[in-house]
Amino acid sequence: MEVRPFARRDREQLARLVNAHVAVVLPGAYVPPATLLNDLEHPLGEYIIGPWVTDLATFVATERDRVVAAAHLRRYGDDARVSDSYRDVGEVVWLLCWPNHLDAGRAVLDTATGQLESWGVREHYANGTLPCPAVYGVSDSWPHVRALYEEAGFDAGDAHVEVVLAGLTAGVDPPGPAPIAGLSLRRRLGTLGTAFDAVLDGEAVGMVEVDDDLTRGGTNLGAVGWADVCNHRVREDMRRQGIGSWLVRSAVEWLRLGGASRLLAYASEDEHLADTMRYAARFGLHPVNRTTRGFDRTPGRN
Ligand SMILES: CC(C)(COP(=O)(O)OP(=O)(O)OC[C@H]1O[C@@H](n2cnc3c(N)ncnc32)[C@H](O)[C@@H]1OP(=O)(O)O)[C@@H](O)C(=O)NCCC(=O)NCCS
Repeated sequence: MEVRPFARRDREQLARLVNAHVAVVLPGAYVPPATLLNDLEHPLGEYIIGPWVTDLATFVATERDRVVAAAHLRRYGDDARVSDSYRDVGEVVWLLCWPNHLDAGRAVLDTATGQLESWGVREHYANGTLPCPAVYGVSDSWPHVRALYEEAGFDAGDAHVEVVLAGLTAGVDPPGPAPIAGLSLRRRLGTLGTAFDAVLDGEAVGMVEVDDDLTRGGTNLGAVGWADVCNHRVREDMRRQGIGSWLVRSAVEWLRLGGASRLLAYASEDEHLADTMRYAARFGLHPVNRTTRGFDRTPGRN
């Protein structure tokens, strides 16, 4: 087994390893090799943290010329434009290995943490973020990755757990008439995508946002047909009158018109999770993934 820096000739094999991990999180999704390569070289698609990156490194472990494990690292700057939580941090953005090649995974992580140590950053993060919708954190479907992180001293103590929900737009009922007299629908550009407001007496009493270009302008065709649903809320005193459901159904009707066939939504594993899941099930959205973000460790202690 050999651990070495990633070379362009590895890209097809690396994409195979990446996409095996993607497919177990989101059915049918994949990262094209060119998209993967771009992300390794310029993570600018992530418009918030991308510009903070000062160094990048990717390592692969090969056995008889086959890429069986890999890790991608970023170092974030220590100047004032970087947020407190990322300032002077080094991150294993993802660590992947075939589960029957754990030794290679361990070896590549060892090289990766050595690189983080040599950067001299104040904190090490570990993640599982791939350039594909819904693939972030350390998925419960990747127990081999979690085990390697824990073995290397990454701790999920302050971690945040999220549940990813998915379903078909075809299963969502049409919105029907507004549930309250005088309520109207307004569509506008929101903070993440297309926003729908439920407007009563000139005031928005509820909203939902959808993003139906998860291919990012066609640069990631592995996400064709998927749409995100987010930023959904109804004013507290207006709840339980059908406004929320009417908003979601109206947004989904719009998505169907554009050809989106599948929906994604995200929920935190907190005290509202059971309510949220019951509500989401009305729209045929069911959990497909549970993922943990926030693995970290202090340098020099391992
Ligand atoms: C979820 C939410 C948008 C629903 O809006 P709404 O106008 O009350 O929706 P509807 O009237 O169509 O449906 C109400 C159902 O939502 C359920 N619900 C789901 N999450 C809820 C929550 N956090 N608080 C209250 N009710 C919730 C209720 O149990 C209710 O079901 P029931 O009538 O069978 O008891 C609204 O409760 C809300 O803003 N919650 C806080 C934000 C949030 O949780 N957003 C993410 C949702 S995926």
